[in-house]
Amino acid sequence: MATQTTGASGTSEAGGQTGALPSAEFAYGDQRLALPVVRGAEDEVAVDIQKLRAATGVITLDPGYGNTGACRSAITFIDGEKGILRYRGYPIEELAEHSTFLEVAWLLVNGELPTRAELSTFSMEVTRHTMLHEDFRRFFDALPKDAHPMPVAAATVGALATFYQDPETSESLPKTIVRLLAKMPTIAACSFKHSIGQPFIYPRNDLDYCANFLHMMFATPCEEYEVDPVVSKALDLLLILHADHEQNCSTSTVRLVGSSQANLFAAISAGIGALWGPLHGGANQAVIEMLEHIDREEGSADKFITRAKDKNDTARLMGFGHRIYKNYDPRAAVLKRTCTQVINKLGTSSRLLEIAMRLEEIALSDEYFVSRKLYPNVDFYSGVIYKALGIPTNMFTVMFAMGRLPGWIAHFLEMRRDPDFRIGRPRQVYTGAKKRAYVGIDRRG
Ligand code: SDX
Repeated sequence: MATQTTGASGTSEAGGQTGALPSAEFAYGDQRLALPVVRGAEDEVAVDIQKLRAATGVITLDPGYGNTGACRSAITFIDGEKGILRYRGYPIEELAEHSTFLEVAWLLVNGELPTRAELSTFSMEVTRHTMLHEDFRRFFDALPKDAHPMPVAAATVGALATFYQDPETSESLPKTIVRLLAKMPTIAACSFKHSIGQPFIYPRNDLDYCANFLHMMFATPCEEYEVDPVVSKALDLLLILHADHEQNCSTSTVRLVGSSQANLFAAISAGIGALWGPLHGGANQAVIEMLEHIDREEGSADKFITRAKDKNDTARLMGFGHRIYKNYDPRAAVLKRTCTQVINKLGTSSRLLEIAMRLEEIALSDEYFVSRKLYPNVDFYSGVIYKALGIPTNMFTVMFAMGRLPGWIAHFLEMRRDPDFRIGRPRQVYTGAKKRAYVGIDRRG
């Protein structure tokens, strides 16, 4: 475990490069304060401002935290300028080509690739925890049929805490982690079956992770569902590509909720809620709706691009742009290749793919997008593949949540084990009314 030797003392699970660094100096009026500088494993540099307010009374302001590091982390590294993404040091492209989702889940949570024996035991444990308590039938029945699967998933994951009430300890957490990973596909499939009025399909222990999910989604009591290996493999790849992405909105939500020592079920439920937003995980559904709209009404990608650039038009090129990537999202590159392969193998329609590729072609040569460094992100092509795999559009963001689950869990654990661990509690700059006396209702205007 590397320790960080900087102007500031501090060791953490995240580790980091050793070697003292020159400190930064804060200067304001006649105040001067030396601030330690921290350098990460990939030489990114941060000014440690933990002592700033106590020493000077001054805080920093950074809406959206675009310039603020919330923690040290050893889980995922992203270089947005170079389009680099690595889980525990392994490039996403290599994991996409050689790994499986459960192996990646083990890697993210435990920090190392599993041995064959570890993976076999882990896979067996996950398989044996895929069932939901029978009382969940009444839970789902209480929800409206037309409920979006994301609030259903968030509510169901939160409700798991009512069925597993053991106090959360380092001994009980491994079982909770297996339960979450195992039951998420079952919850997703049940939310889908509930929405179409079909009976729930029980998981099967003879199927692997993705095949089991597809079986629960598409089998019915009237007929079995033959899992196509092409579909199952493509789904496994999609889950790998979504498994983690450092301090994104939903992961930061999981960390913040977990920092109050709320349990893992509650933190994951909150993460699902954050992911639902169309600016975050909800973008994959918004991309398909955009492509179908263009196919139905605009007729031309060019017209839509014009709208997306118009400040007075609410249209956005969904699936484009990213807070971190100012280059091509490496996941989008893998997905673009996979799109073509899956559609060709399945022989499904490529109309939406054609529109997506035309939009990309126009945008990547348009000054508006080039000057703002807006490139396709993970959501731009994922929806096209989900659709080709037969996943309903309103399930796309639930698929994102299924993929992101191991990343959320890994960050929750890292946060809890961090020696710098504190409850998250940002400050603010108050801009409201100054002190004023209460006015009785009879004396108000
Ligand atoms: C995910 O953080 C993560 O890691 C997230 C994620 C993960 O794996 O967890 O990668 C998953 O959430 C991917 C992003 C999915 N969202 C979308 O595809 C929605 C469309 N994209 C945007 O709304 C936007 O690009 C964001 C939300 C992704 C990023 O927003 P930022 O960083 O706050 O950037 P911004 O809104 O300040 O945009 C900068 C400029 C603005 O124009 P100006 O004010 O400079 O004139 O770029 C414009 C924006 O209007 N812009 C877009 C655009 N995205 C940004 N204009 C048209 N279409 C777009 N998609």
